[in-house]
Amino acid sequence: MSTLDEIKSKIDIVDLVSEAGVKLRHAGKNYTGFCPFHDNKKTPAFVVWPETGTWRCFGQCNEGGDIFKFVMKRESIDFKEAMQKLALRAGVEIKEYTRETPEQKEAYENLRKLLEDSIIYYRSHLFNNKNIFNYLKDKRGLTESTIETFGLGYAPAGYDNFLKHFSAKGYSEQDLINSGMLSEREDGKVFDRFRNRIMIPIRDEQGRMTGFGARIVDPDDIPKFLNSPETPLFSKGRLLYGLDRARKPIRVADQAVIVEGYLDVIALHQAGYENVVSPMGTALTEDQLRLLKKYTRKIVLALDPDVAGQKAVLRGLDAARSAMDKEGELAFDARGLLRNESRLQADLRVASIPDDLDPDEIVARDKDEWKTLIENAKPIVTHVMDSLAAGQNLNDPKVKNQIAAQILPLIDDIGNPLERDTYRQALARMLKVNESALASTTARPQVMRRKPRGEETNQKIEAVVAAVNPRIKIESYCLGTLLKKPELLYRLDRKLEEFGLSPLAVEDFEYTDHQLLFGVLRLAVEQDEKEHQNYLMSHLPEALTPLANDLLSQTEKIEKTYDDKLLEDLLNRFLDLRRTHATSNVNQLRFMQEDDETQGGANIKLYQEQAMQFTRLLRSLDLAKRKIVKRQ
Ligand code: GTP
Ligand code: MN
Repeated sequence: MSTLDEIKSKIDIVDLVSEAGVKLRHAGKNYTGFCPFHDNKKTPAFVVWPETGTWRCFGQCNEGGDIFKFVMKRESIDFKEAMQKLALRAGVEIKEYTRETPEQKEAYENLRKLLEDSIIYYRSHLFNNKNIFNYLKDKRGLTESTIETFGLGYAPAGYDNFLKHFSAKGYSEQDLINSGMLSEREDGKVFDRFRNRIMIPIRDEQGRMTGFGARIVDPDDIPKFLNSPETPLFSKGRLLYGLDRARKPIRVADQAVIVEGYLDVIALHQAGYENVVSPMGTALTEDQLRLLKKYTRKIVLALDPDVAGQKAVLRGLDAARSAMDKEGELAFDARGLLRNESRLQADLRVASIPDDLDPDEIVARDKDEWKTLIENAKPIVTHVMDSLAAGQNLNDPKVKNQIAAQILPLIDDIGNPLERDTYRQALARMLKVNESALASTTARPQVMRRKPRGEETNQKIEAVVAAVNPRIKIESYCLGTLLKKPELLYRLDRKLEEFGLSPLAVEDFEYTDHQLLFGVLRLAVEQDEKEHQNYLMSHLPEALTPLANDLLSQTEKIEKTYDDKLLEDLLNRFLDLRRTHATSNVNQLRFMQEDDETQGGANIKLYQEQAMQFTRLLRSLDLAKRKIVKRQ
C-alpha cells in the first residue's frame, strides 16, 4: 500500500464531506446531500459512496472523485496541498514525499558507501580473530559461506579503532556520526559505537545498506544487542532483517515467516528456509507488515509459546497499543496484530516453538521439524485460546470465566462476522458452555470492554477499507502495468475503439492520484522526444513519484508475461472497472429520479439523460465482453 492509499484508508469520506458542511442523508448504501460546488438547494444531487470512498454530483457539476479531489475543489488547492492536509488529518507521515535533492542523494550514497566499507573492515577483523570466528562456526553452526553471504563481521574492542581507520580513509567526523557508527559524548568527544561485538549488516528490502545489529561477545556486556541509531537510512520500524534475501523466496512460497532473532534468520536461511525475516528487537509494526504484504498475505509468526501466550493476555486486556513501540519488547500483541490483520487483509498465523528453543536450535536438532512447526501454525485467536487453556482445569467455572473474559475482546475485534461466529463457537466448545452464556459474559460490565475513544470510527474505517481495496487494487495494478509498458496504451486504445468504446481516459480511474499519473502517462506516450519512462519520471508531480515507484516495484511479474496476455488482461479489467462504475451510477440515478419526482421533478430530464448514457455504455461493455470471450 502506498502512503496515498494509507491516507485514503484512514479517512472516512462521509466524515470529511459532512465536516465540510454538507448535510448528508442515508440513502440505501450511499449518502446524498446538496452539492457544495454548485448552487442548488432544491435537489440533493450530490452522492457519496462510502464503500469506494468516492463522491459525485449528478447535477450541474456532473463531476466526481475521491477525498483528494473533494478537498482540492473545496479549498481550491492543488493535489500536493490536499495530500498534505489529508495526511495530517489521517496521521500519516509524508516524509518520503519530499523528493531527495541531488545533494541529499549524494549524501545518502556517501553514507551507504561508508557502511559498505564498514562491512569490509569488520569482516577482516572477524577473519583475523580465531575465537570469534570459531564461535560462529562451531557454537552457532554457521558455515563460512553463510558468514560471507550475510556479511558478518567483528568490531574490535577499544574506543577509537573505527574512528581512526575511517578518518584516515578521508571520511569526515560528521559523516561518521551521521552514519550512526560513532557515538557522541556530552562534552562533544566521539568514540566507536560498536566495540567488541559481532556485527550483522542490515540492508533494506532492495539490498541497500542501512546499518548494523551488533551482538555481544562478552556475556557481561550490555545490552545484548545494540543496533545502529535511527539515521536517515536506518529506521528500525520500517525495516525487516533479511528481507533483501527473503523477498523472492517469500513470493515463491507465498508465505513469510517472522522470527525474533538475527541469528535465527541466518540459521534458517542456511538450513534452506529462505522465506524468513525478523524485526530488530522491537514489536512488529504495521509498516513492517505492509512491507511483507507486497510479497504475500500469508504471514506466520514463529514465537516462543509461553511468552506469546502471556503477553497476549496482558496486552489483550488493556490493549496498550503504545506499549507496542517499546524497545526490546516482544512482538506479540494479539489485539494489535488482529487489527492490522483485518486492516491489511492479511492472513496472520502463529507457530509455537517448543521446548524453550530458538528457531536456530530447532533446525540444528532437526531440519524437518521447522517445516512441520510452520505447517501447524494457527490463526491468532486459536493460538491465544490454546495457550490460555494449556494446563488449566477447564471444568472450573472460575477458569472458564477468566479465559472467556480474555478471549472475547479479541474475538469482538475481528472484522469479519463469519469468522467472529466461528471463533465464538470454538470458544464455547472449548469451555463446554453454550454460546449464549458467552454473550452474557461480554455484556457484564466487569469484563473490560472499555473501548478507547475513536475506536468505533476506526472499525467503520476498517470496513470501508476492506471494501475499497478491490477497486484501488485493480486500478493500481492496471496503472502499474501501463507505467511499466507504456506502449500497451496504444494497443489498448485500439482495442477499445474496435469495440466502439472510447479510448482510455483519466475518468477510467476513480482516484485523483491515479488520474494524475495517468494524465502524465498519456502525455509521455504522445511525445517522441524522450523515452516514455524518462519523460514520465521527469514530468511527474513530485508528490506522485513515490506512488509511481511503488506501482512499478510491484510489477516484477509483468516482465515475464507476454504482451498479448497483458493486453487482454488489462482490457478485461478496464471493461470491468467501467462496468462497475456505470452500474453504480445507473442505480444511483434511478434512485434519484424517484426522489426527484416526489419533490416536483425539476431534474428528472437531466437524470434520465444521464441514466440513458450509462445504460448505453453498459450495453456496449457487455457486447465487448462477449466478443472477447468468443475470440478465446
Ligand atoms: P542468540 O542469543 O545469540 O541466539 O541471539 P538471538 O538473536 O536469538 O537473541 P535473543 O533471542 O536474545 O533476542 C532476539 C532478538 O531480540 C535479537 O535478535 C535482537 O534483535 C533483539 N534483542 C535481544 N536483546 C536485545 C537488546 O538488549 N537490545 C535490543 N535493541 N534488541 C535486543
Ligand atoms: Mn538465539
